[in-house]
Amino acid sequence: MRYILVTGVSSGIGYACVAYFIEQGCHVFGSVRKPEDAARLSQIFGANYTPLLFDVTDSEAIRRAVEVVKAKLGEGENLFGLVVNAGIQIPGPILYLTREEMRYQFDVNVFGTLEVIQYFVPLLRETGQNKPGRIVHVGSTSAAITLPFTSFYSAAKSAMHSLCDTLRRELMMYGVDVIDIYVGPVNNELVAKVAPYKERYKATDYYAAITMRLEGALKKNIPKGLLSEEVAAAIFRSLTVPNPKHRFALNKDWFNTWFIPTLLPHRVLDRIVAKKWKMRPQDFEGR
Ligand SMILES: NC(=O)c1ccc[n+]([C@@H]2O[C@H](COP(=O)([O-])OP(=O)(O)OC[C@H]3O[C@@H](n4cnc5c(N)ncnc54)[C@H](OP(=O)(O)O)[C@@H]3O)[C@@H](O)[C@H]2O)c1
Repeated sequence: MRYILVTGVSSGIGYACVAYFIEQGCHVFGSVRKPEDAARLSQIFGANYTPLLFDVTDSEAIRRAVEVVKAKLGEGENLFGLVVNAGIQIPGPILYLTREEMRYQFDVNVFGTLEVIQYFVPLLRETGQNKPGRIVHVGSTSAAITLPFTSFYSAAKSAMHSLCDTLRRELMMYGVDVIDIYVGPVNNELVAKVAPYKERYKATDYYAAITMRLEGALKKNIPKGLLSEEVAAAIFRSLTVPNPKHRFALNKDWFNTWFIPTLLPHRVLDRIVAKKWKMRPQDFEGR
């Protein structure tokens, strides 16, 4: 039996991973924060799903989850995969983000994610009967293409990009591989969850631009984005193919939303971005 642990499975990509991995014959440990989500998912997925209850900012709860997983794994079994997926986005103009918001973004998307990896690596290691498991980080194209109003989200994904390199090199001696997927826009609830944040900036010079950016994403980019199920299938490939790419962009419109922006000189991209969301000095005059 292949055992895979996924964090943040109450919705979106994590939920799609549970469904897809079970369909492929795996047993999935999926973390949620609310007991009602654990009950709901157990009801849907049945015996091939084991709920884990932890918030990634709660070290003690993660430690308890390690014991649950250990107890479930049979003699000589290990984790075939660890998918660190749980994440949040706190949008806002960088001049107005509070220290608590900046800290919390990093606490969940970086420190919590890393602590989950630290605690579960021992269960990924080779056993007498199984090869070592792999780690997949659900990263974002935002790690490389930094747009206005998602500063600390991008910074956190970018920090994870660097930490994945370190992990891959430090875990090589255990045979545990680490894969970082730069996921592009996904057609799920994440952006809808964060769009209301814009109202906090009503009294600032950024209101028009942040409204355009978040509503534009909701109306245009997100509906054209990847399906969570497509991301789940790509993660599964990364866990199972013999020689996975250690990092790749997974994007619907790969050419226009990844290849071109990452190729353009930064000054050119600055001007395109400023024009798009009317953030040039001439757009600001008279306001
Ligand atoms: N959606 C996109 O366009 C997109 C694009 C690129 C990358 N990603 C990345 O994909 C990952 C999954 O996001 P999604 O799109 O599937 O959004 P989502 O539906 O909002 O899923 C986020 C998951 O993370 C969990 N979570 C949030 N804070 C947590 C915490 N402190 N501790 C433990 N779990 C926590 C949520 O649980 P609760 O229900 O309890 O809040 C939920 O299960 C994230 O890392 C995100 O950055 C998303």
